[in-house]
Amino acid sequence: MSIDKTWQIISDDPAKTEQLAEKIGKQLKGGETIELVSDLGGGKTTFVRGLARGAGSTDKVASPTFTISKVYDTPNFQIHHFDFYRLPEPGIVADELAELVNDPKIVIVVEWADSVQEVLPSERLLLRIKQTPEGHRELTFSAPESLNYLREAVK
Ligand SMILES: Nc1ncnc2c1ncn2[C@@H]1O[C@H](COP(=O)(O)OP(=O)(O)O)[C@@H](O)[C@H]1O
Ligand SMILES: [Mg+2]
Repeated sequence: MSIDKTWQIISDDPAKTEQLAEKIGKQLKGGETIELVSDLGGGKTTFVRGLARGAGSTDKVASPTFTISKVYDTPNFQIHHFDFYRLPEPGIVADELAELVNDPKIVIVVEWADSVQEVLPSERLLLRIKQTPEGHRELTFSAPESLNYLREAVK
């Protein structure tokens, strides 16, 4: 079993968060899962916007809160963006998500994943975002060795 590596980056503004995400998006191969954890307004969707752009998508990224999931096309894979905010019983959507895991033509990004923890792969990039008293964001990434190429992109 590999131990996850953890690293931190401070982001001063939304553009910086997008820029970091864009670098990671450029390195995605397909088949990865990314879990985003923060309070409302932490910058999860902002991160996904940069990630999709980095992966070569021109699709509009917005919070899928009311649709649960959205799909963005990139030249190499689809990004499936889930948001389970206030959805204690993910039901059939959790089944859909489970079927997408490890599909090499798909990258999964999940906001508010508490209710779907058991269907997420253990090998995933985890990003926790905290707002600092100054209004900045402290990004704490955690990833297994198999995803080292994503760490290299931003360290
Ligand atoms: N460093 C930062 N990184 C990301 N967003 C920031 C940052 N500083 C301020 N913001 C603002 O915080 C909000 C984040 O919103 P959003 O990405 O939708 O968060 P979430 O999806 O976590 O609810 C945006 O209004 C953005 O402009
Ligand atoms: Mg959001």
